[in-house]
Amino acid sequence: MKHPPDISDTAFITCYFRSLDPERSRDPFAHLWISDSARRLGDQFKNEVIENDPVNIQLRSRYWVEALERFQREHGEFTLVNLGAGFTMYPYLPFMTSGVRCLEVDQAHVIDFKTRSLAEFSRTGQLPEAAHPHTLRLNFEQEDFEDALDREIEKLGRDRPVFFLLEGFFYYLSAAVSDRLWAWLQYACHKGSQIGMIYLPPEVQHSRAFRDTQDFLRSECGYDGDHIVYHDKSYFTQSGLKVLDHCSHVELGKRYGASDDYTNDNTFNEHFILLTRHA
Ligand SMILES: C[S@@+](CC[C@H](N)C(=O)[O-])C[C@H]1O[C@@H](n2cnc3c(N)ncnc32)[C@H](O)[C@@H]1O
Repeated sequence: MKHPPDISDTAFITCYFRSLDPERSRDPFAHLWISDSARRLGDQFKNEVIENDPVNIQLRSRYWVEALERFQREHGEFTLVNLGAGFTMYPYLPFMTSGVRCLEVDQAHVIDFKTRSLAEFSRTGQLPEAAHPHTLRLNFEQEDFEDALDREIEKLGRDRPVFFLLEGFFYYLSAAVSDRLWAWLQYACHKGSQIGMIYLPPEVQHSRAFRDTQDFLRSECGYDGDHIVYHDKSYFTQSGLKVLDHCSHVELGKRYGASDDYTNDNTFNEHFILLTRHA
């Protein structure tokens, strides 16, 4: 993908980490996206910045696959709206291919590259026959996104619940834009729908792993990490939405039996929150 270095490079790194253990990550297609430069960047990150990040990114993917599986069992047909989708491959998982419609939203160059690549993977038989996701090319920082998202969801049908997923994306937005997006999500999350959100709580700023990640993103991905936005859990829970689950990478390591040794200091300790609207 030819473009000046930017934060979308991290989408290749997360893909590379998922591909290192497809059973743990439950992403059997991540390997399709791995180029030499993604491998080089990922290895550099793992060796020089955070050793446990590959396992954590694999568990992060597994966590959302399991949440989507539960949602599918509960509702049958639904729509997945994946904001900042990067090169995730949820639409191609077997339980997603019948009755689930998917909308993926990301920057134009990411969507264009992904769309071209998916067509090629299908043509060469590397992807199972499945409907490709609907897409929306959007830069949340530069465009009005509310009406555009509404229109796309309308096209996919209002007769079904929506699972909104924001995986490793929300905290890259500026404060004003993330506030607007969170307001829109609360409005768009109707009864029965769910929001799966990853956010960064203020205490991650005291973590060595986090500071080293910021330095790496600045030097390797042209990212000015000073704009990261931190949220308290209460930011999400004051919304009237019901919390179905909350955890962090440190807790997820224990939950899945991967490690008891993860701490806020040695881990890029994202927090996960799963919310629903009941009434
Ligand atoms: C760390 S990647 C995560 C990708 C994917 N969700 C995953 O977990 O592998 C962050 C993604 O957010 C997208 N992104 C960041 N800022 C954005 C913006 N302002 N508008 C649209 N997409 C953005 C990037 O292009 C990238 O694909």
